[in-house]
Amino acid sequence: MAGTGKAHLRPAADTMLRVEDLVMEFPAGGGKKVHAVSGISLDVAEGETLGLVGESGCGKSTTGKAIIQLPPPTSGSVSLDGTDLAKLRGEELREARTRIQMIFQDPISSLNPRRKIGEVVAEPLNVWGPDDPEQQRDLVHKMLDAVGIDPDVAATKRPHEFSGGQCQRISIARALVMEPQLLICDEPVSALDVSVQAQILNLLEDLKVEYNLTLVFVAHDLAVVKNISDRVAVMYLGKLCEVAESNSLYETPAHPYTSLLVGSSPIPDPSIEIDESVVEEGELPSPISPPSGCRFRTRCPLADEICERVEPQMEQIGPDHFVACHHPLVTSTEVNLSPTGTDKIETKGRT
Ligand SMILES: Nc1ncnc2c1ncn2[C@@H]1O[C@H](COP(=O)(O)OP(=O)(O)OP(=O)(O)O)[C@@H](O)[C@H]1O
Ligand code: SF4
Ligand SMILES: [Mg+2]
Repeated sequence: MAGTGKAHLRPAADTMLRVEDLVMEFPAGGGKKVHAVSGISLDVAEGETLGLVGESGCGKSTTGKAIIQLPPPTSGSVSLDGTDLAKLRGEELREARTRIQMIFQDPISSLNPRRKIGEVVAEPLNVWGPDDPEQQRDLVHKMLDAVGIDPDVAATKRPHEFSGGQCQRISIARALVMEPQLLICDEPVSALDVSVQAQILNLLEDLKVEYNLTLVFVAHDLAVVKNISDRVAVMYLGKLCEVAESNSLYETPAHPYTSLLVGSSPIPDPSIEIDESVVEEGELPSPISPPSGCRFRTRCPLADEICERVEPQMEQIGPDHFVACHHPLVTSTEVNLSPTGTDKIETKGRT
């Protein structure tokens, strides 16, 4: 099926996670389907943080869950270090899943309220070992300590006795107790106060270095993603619009939707220019019957006949900057794509 292309994928040998043509559909009744994710491809190199950003309902969580195969995608492949997870079954799949862990948006409801914190963090160890209670206790203590929760105080308390930020720290401890290679963070700070958000983001950055982690960081807030990501992928209605090195995406967004997101970033960043020529308009389309051609066309001020007819494919416009749009705000006309560092990007109609 037509996707938004794979020009942005790097050689498989250079990446840890490689997702190709990922499709996830859900039954919607009456023989219809929710096209939650429609053929996206992305990759993440070891030690890198990929930000996955887009508005509510665009398919971010579905993508994260499909990567850990909960549930497995409708079609497409998810490879971790060259192994296609979609082809694994039983024990092999369960073992592979321990190498990828996910932390969720709502820290309090993601923890079992009836269990004590020591048991919550030990949950993965009960499945995967070690079985020795003393070893388990040591690991739980080590991880709680690493996330800034006093293990002696917390181990016998229950989740409702902790704040949202503390619960998110406990969720992180539970995710890291298996020492995963890849951590998928699904809007881990969006339910928290701004002051606590910064603490959790700093903690994730520290743990990333300490535990040699690779991160996929899902958010709808571009300002949050910018600070933590090396590379950012922008999603709209189940498709990828733009993939770029973080600074390049913020300084010269090429897709009209990215430009809209940059302009509506809730935490103002003086380095971000808001393009007033791109405004949010048009009706919000449904993932049950997405628009033909470019899925953003019903809201895009630049849409024309080709946008309705032909789905745009991902094209390179800068050294690490790719966009799927027939009329990008940034062109590659004057971009020297050689890796010399002297590349220039021409912008269309931007100040
Ligand atoms: N199990 C399901 N059954 C049916 N539809 C689903 C299911 N899970 C997700 N969807 C639909 O798929 C689309 C994508 O949902 P998803 O939760 O991935 O979006 P999201 O980008 O994570 O949004 P948010 O920012 O609100 O968390 C939505 O239209 C959602 O209603
Ligand atoms: S392809 Fe057309 S409709 Fe889609 S974002 Fe680009 S200009 Fe707008
Ligand atoms: Mg979500």
